[in-house]
Amino acid sequence: MEFKVENGDGIDSWKEVTLVYSAALRQMETKMQILNDEFQHVHQYNPIEHIKARIKTPESIVKKLKRYGQESTIDNMVKYINDIAGIRIICSFTSDIYRIADMIRDQKDIQVIAVKDYITYPKASGYKSYHMIVSIPVYLSDRTVDTKVEIQIRTVAMDFWASLEHKIHYKFEGDAPESIKNELVECARMVSDLDARMLSLNEEILAISQKREEEKQLNSVTSK
Ligand code: GTP
Ligand code: MG
Repeated sequence: MEFKVENGDGIDSWKEVTLVYSAALRQMETKMQILNDEFQHVHQYNPIEHIKARIKTPESIVKKLKRYGQESTIDNMVKYINDIAGIRIICSFTSDIYRIADMIRDQKDIQVIAVKDYITYPKASGYKSYHMIVSIPVYLSDRTVDTKVEIQIRTVAMDFWASLEHKIHYKFEGDAPESIKNELVECARMVSDLDARMLSLNEEILAISQKREEEKQLNSVTSK
């Protein structure tokens, strides 16, 4: 893969792109693991089910730049491609998504560049997810490079839907039959329904166990 190199004070070779973006990705991944561990410690509960991280392949970077009508240069990819480094955070419940987004927003070294809330406003395809483009500093030996990372936050159910829809989209090269598209929209509706029911089930369980805990404490006090 050949990239034209231009002079800039940021990143000037493909090797450096990989180095800087994978460093940014590792930092984000660690930050998310720390939040999850701390949440477990404080609330005895993990909001994050799992995390997937990936660096965009040179092929798909070139393809995207072409789609944007831009030449394949290092400067252009750093400027125009927001998802060279991508991290996907999979949660159990919709409420966890907003909790995690807020925790990310609150971190001083993270700058939020853009947010797309496809949960409140799903795509016509039925796609639901919370997207953030953030920038985090990567400290190199002689300079600091503010590096963009795309964060996608979604529930397990949303992730299941998105991965199947992605495969279908690929299979039909974006031209799936209307019946399949309609079926996917219907499945997305079921996913939303499932997420809502799982959330209220969880709230019910929490309320019951809290009540039982209180009763247990009351009993131990009165029996003394
Ligand atoms: P891309 O050029 O596709 O990256 O879109 P964008 O720059 O307009 O950003 P957007 O936030 O809409 O989408 C970013 C990413 O979200 C995509 O690369 C996909 O990973 C995911 N995504 C967005 N829309 C859909 C969808 O309808 N189905 C699935 N499966 N994934 C989607
Ligand atoms: Mg993308």
